[in-house]
Amino acid sequence: MGFSWYALYQLSGLRKLQTQTIDLNRHDSLLLLRVQNDLNAVGLKLRDMTELPRRAGIAAYRADFNSLRDDLEEAIQAEAKLAPVARRAKQQAELVSALKQFWQLTDEVFEEAKAGNERTARNLALTQLSPQQSALAAQVSSLLERNNEAEERADVKVASIYEGVEGDIYAFLTATMIAIAATSLYLIYSNRQMFEQIQSLSKQRRVLAARLITVQEEVLRSVSRELHDEFGQILTAVGAMLARAERKGIPADSPLRTELSEVREITHNTLEKMRSLSQMLHPAVIDDYGLAKGIEWYVEVFQRQTGIHTTATVIGEPVRITGQPAIHTFRIVQEALTNAAKHSGTAMAQVEMTFTADTLTVSVADFGRGMPHARKNAKPGLGLIAMRERAELLCAKLQITSIPNAGTKVTVTLPLRQEDPMPDALEDNSFQEVVSQKT
Ligand SMILES: Nc1ncnc2c1ncn2[C@@H]1O[C@H](COP(=O)(O)OP(=O)(O)O)[C@@H](O)[C@H]1O
Ligand SMILES: [Mg+2]
Repeated sequence: MGFSWYALYQLSGLRKLQTQTIDLNRHDSLLLLRVQNDLNAVGLKLRDMTELPRRAGIAAYRADFNSLRDDLEEAIQAEAKLAPVARRAKQQAELVSALKQFWQLTDEVFEEAKAGNERTARNLALTQLSPQQSALAAQVSSLLERNNEAEERADVKVASIYEGVEGDIYAFLTATMIAIAATSLYLIYSNRQMFEQIQSLSKQRRVLAARLITVQEEVLRSVSRELHDEFGQILTAVGAMLARAERKGIPADSPLRTELSEVREITHNTLEKMRSLSQMLHPAVIDDYGLAKGIEWYVEVFQRQTGIHTTATVIGEPVRITGQPAIHTFRIVQEALTNAAKHSGTAMAQVEMTFTADTLTVSVADFGRGMPHARKNAKPGLGLIAMRERAELLCAKLQITSIPNAGTKVTVTLPLRQEDPMPDALEDNSFQEVVSQKT
């Protein structure tokens, strides 16, 4: 802005110089040329008058002189108005008085001629009028010269202003270029730094999420095993002991027998509940029979619990999948089905497992209202995030498509050919390596 202001200031100065000095000067020079021209005409007339006297004598020239005088006066007056500032008043006054003297003398010459003193008149014209005319012409020439000089000076000034502005523009451009280059370099540098920071943070986050998920699975599995193996055993034993006690010499109508029977019933129910809880925490069917059977089992449980008609279909040649890939895929299906029950309002759901030579694609589709559009302040649920994290852990591809009022479909595609897409992170710390393999 500063530079623009400065350049405009320079240019306006230039315009002022142009209109106030140069144009004025040129106009003035034109008028001076007119004066010079008139003076030359006066000179020629003087020569004619003195060297080639007409028959009617010098007086015959009066009319010619008068018309020249009128033109000259007019030109001089116009010129005086324009007279450049540089001209001194003294100069102007000198010119005016010289002209006045000249015309007075002319009048005298013509008076003499009129009086018949032709000889005196010619002498006067030759000795005084002619030199005065030459002096006047010289004066006007000098004024013209001055104007030319002033114009030259103005030209030089204009050129110097142009050069200055040009130089300023180049300097400004260079400075701008340098500033742009420096800013760009700085931006590249800071962007790279920021990118590196984000990358490292993202890596840390992924490692953390992986550890969290694997630890969670580990805990769930051990609690589930503990429930099943330890408490299951105890409750089974308690049940058996109660049955034996019932049979041992207690009369059939004794209230103690009824109570024992009730306690045995409670023990049995608790055992059942504990088994199903253990299954929900970590379905043993996955470890024993593989992912496909686990999903089929869960679909049945889900249907029973929610009343949503759900089908499980296997396409292709099933492969037995266990370990981490199995449990994570199972959890993704579990979350997708839970979401369908919780959010979609569907009456029907479909689970499809498609086995190919080197991938397994599991899709969970509902036919409900679809996912709402992401609102600005909507809190993203943890379920979807965990799904993504698990998929990432398996190097699998997770895709969620949703159409309003048509339903939602969650599809996970995991590679099978890889030796083991998820080396058992529960056994060691190699989950870190899995993450870095992926990045
Ligand atoms: N099958 C679905 N149908 C409709 N909306 C869904 C479905 N699945 C998820 N959503 C929407 O996505 C949001 C986030 O889901 P999620 O991350 O599982 O969190 P949460 O289930 O705890 O709300 C849900 O609150 C819901 O609005
Ligand atoms: Mg959810």
